[in-house]
Amino acid sequence: MTIQLLAWRTGMRRTVWLAVAVFSTAGFLSLAAAPVLSPSEAFTREDARKTAQAGSGALAPVYGPLAGQIVEDYGLAEAEGIGIDLGGGSGTLILELCKRTRLHWVDADINPHVFPIFLKAADEAGFGGRVSAIFADAQALPFRDNYARIVVSRGSVQFWEDKPLAFREIYRVLAPGGAAYVGRGFSRNLPAKVARAVREKQKSDGRGGPPPYDPGETAREFESIMKELKIQEYRIDRPTPPGAGDVNYGVWVGFHKEPLQTCRGKGG
Ligand SMILES: C[S@@+](CC[C@H](N)C(=O)[O-])C[C@H]1O[C@@H](n2cnc3c(N)ncnc32)[C@H](O)[C@@H]1O
Repeated sequence: MTIQLLAWRTGMRRTVWLAVAVFSTAGFLSLAAAPVLSPSEAFTREDARKTAQAGSGALAPVYGPLAGQIVEDYGLAEAEGIGIDLGGGSGTLILELCKRTRLHWVDADINPHVFPIFLKAADEAGFGGRVSAIFADAQALPFRDNYARIVVSRGSVQFWEDKPLAFREIYRVLAPGGAAYVGRGFSRNLPAKVARAVREKQKSDGRGGPPPYDPGETAREFESIMKELKIQEYRIDRPTPPGAGDVNYGVWVGFHKEPLQTCRGKGG
């Protein structure tokens, strides 16, 4: 089975048509085409630099614990296959996930300027052969159905214009029995003292502090999307570790794709 990703410019500089054609040995299955903004115009090198700066600066202490929690929650230590970080940016979370798993990790981001930063860091960390990068809009993912063991995403969901469509795409590319963990903020295993220091550092790094939002409202939005997509097995996470009541730990949704039913008939 192969995936063919066809992207071409129309000549009018503003539009890139992204078309994903999925073929199987049985032949052509489906063709989905969606217009997306030209990445070179909408998402800049400067955006990528700022994302990388935040990842290696104020937010640096966040990724190790988050990766540890994800690996533990979803039993990834010995898992084989593909992991996708959607809106992975400069890939700090991916590098932490590489340390803790054997999966091949894909940085799927709408800003292609993040990829050189990510790939250089991965190579320097010794994970060059364990990672890939691809231009991707969350709302039109360039992966075949049932592709990934896990999809993670931190701090990107708030930028997705059509969140139900993006979650539908995530569900589509998950392998049966696979899981997704999507949200913003911190993991529940991040000590309150560290979380507080991160928030303080974000305020003083000249970028106006963490973006204000109501995690309760986002939780309700996640819940309504899960219901709309008829995803049965999901969990909304509002991490509140002991002594951390004054810190916004953010909000996450974790969900599974139904495993394939095995046929256990009486033989014959
Ligand atoms: C705040 S950064 C977070 C980066 C990284 N996940 C982290 O935690 O360090 C948000 C990232 O989401 C990406 N992004 C925004 N909209 C997107 C979309 N529709 N599809 C895929 N990626 C998107 C941005 O390019 C950026 O790299």
